[in-house]
Amino acid sequence: NAMLSWQRTAYHFQPEHNWMNDPNGPLFHKGWYHLFYQYNPDSAVWGTITWGHAVSKDLIHWLYLPFAMVPDHWYDIKGVWTGSATILPDGQIVMLYTGDTYDVVQVQCLAYPANLSDPLLLDWVKYSGNPVLVPPPGIGPKDFRDPTTAWLSPDGDKWRITIGSKLNKTGISLVYETVDFKTYDMLDGYMHAVPGTGMWECVDFYPVSIKEVNGLDTSVNGPSVKHVLKASLDDDKNDYYALGVYDPIENKWIPDDPELDVGIGLRYDYGKFYASKTFYDQNKQRRILWGWIRETDSEDDDILKGWASVQSIPRTVVFDQKTGSNILQWPVSEVEELRSESVEFGNVKLGPGSIFPLKVDTPSQLDIVASFEIDEDAFEGTVEVDADASYSCPTSGGAANRGKLGPFGVIVLGDKTLSEGTPIYFYITKGANGKAETHFCADELRSSLAPDVEKVVYGSKVPVLDGEKYSLRSLVDHSIVESFAQGGRTVITSRVYPTKAVDGAARVYLFNNATKVSVTASVKMWNMGTADIRTFPLNEL
Ligand code: FRU
Repeated sequence: NAMLSWQRTAYHFQPEHNWMNDPNGPLFHKGWYHLFYQYNPDSAVWGTITWGHAVSKDLIHWLYLPFAMVPDHWYDIKGVWTGSATILPDGQIVMLYTGDTYDVVQVQCLAYPANLSDPLLLDWVKYSGNPVLVPPPGIGPKDFRDPTTAWLSPDGDKWRITIGSKLNKTGISLVYETVDFKTYDMLDGYMHAVPGTGMWECVDFYPVSIKEVNGLDTSVNGPSVKHVLKASLDDDKNDYYALGVYDPIENKWIPDDPELDVGIGLRYDYGKFYASKTFYDQNKQRRILWGWIRETDSEDDDILKGWASVQSIPRTVVFDQKTGSNILQWPVSEVEELRSESVEFGNVKLGPGSIFPLKVDTPSQLDIVASFEIDEDAFEGTVEVDADASYSCPTSGGAANRGKLGPFGVIVLGDKTLSEGTPIYFYITKGANGKAETHFCADELRSSLAPDVEKVVYGSKVPVLDGEKYSLRSLVDHSIVESFAQGGRTVITSRVYPTKAVDGAARVYLFNNATKVSVTASVKMWNMGTADIRTFPLNEL
């Protein structure tokens, strides 16, 4: 279907055909990054899931490999579901995943590479004693899935994993201890529980350094470490995280701020980004986050176009030492290999209600870095009368709604007349007390003329500290826009389906739709190349 073909992305990872969901078991081994993924080989909608497998030297260019694991045992015949890898100190690799059994019970299974000296890890062996864990008493057979990467117990003699579940409407994380990954003891209580959050899918749990900029291996703990706990909420299909402190003796994780607890506070991404997973990249001492970007069109259209979903550009994750209250996500530096010609526009003055077209060669494949300064005098003198504490990206009318101090930003994937376009913008509110708050939003309301696609406004608050400009970075890839504000404090992934703003016909604009302030913008944009993602004859590797 030619109408839909241009939506295919150029540098995001996706299978050649059919359905993909969660990233699974990412790891680095003998020079290769491995990505496994939930895959339906039969159709562009979810079904009986197999583990797809691809490898990369740089997290950008990929080779599809044969399936790593297929549903072929009683304990995973309805699906080889999400799992995580652990690399043991002696180099062994342990894979734990959820099997959906012949009678639809979620159980945990163990697998390992047949041959560790194979850099491609082509052959996987399922342990003969599988399953290694079944739902414990009191836990529903369909509420027990997605084991994490393991970390070492305080004595260093046992491994621990956590698995998400729920009790009534309370989301919980169960913790198990094991020596050999074959037999397990459940620890008393839960590592954490949050009422009202429902089933916790794809729990992730890892340390971040509060002093260093490098990432940490999963077992690190101590006074200069905080722990991120993340749950993917089945009920609203968003990934929520919180920062806190892990007490391994009590088997408890305590949030720094109970009002920003898991599932009720911060999200990794305010757009389409789900079932994510991190891994520690021992090659470059960083922690890398992958997330599944879902479709927001109809299943019929997905079947027509023959594929569904992409993975996000992998992001490094670090603690934000400036705010102390959030993480920072940033596209891995390797994505910059795809940059070619750049154009730069410095000091573009944008008066209230103005728009400024930017000329670029490859408007559907871009890396955009932009910063904005607002006219101080106007800003100081301005107070929103009806103190706009109630502003929120999703409910405040998008980029067409003019306030005194916003919106301003960029419009990507727009056409010549702006009958289509996706504004990515800042919106500042300032109440009578003079306190300013900045929101970072992505407005999809006019992103597509197609009828059957979701069109919403995404976004949330973003901390902007004294002396900082308003800064954003957007990776544009045909039908995906991943946007990072203030160095990655707030992130929004948009899945959009332009019909006119496609390929070379797309346009980029700067805009300022505020009524009161002028904005000075500086922007640099790179044309982005196309990643090489394909099947490669194995005998040529
Ligand atoms: C999350 C999820 C996981 C499960 C997998 C099945 O998207 O529902 O909880 O393991 O997908 O494909």
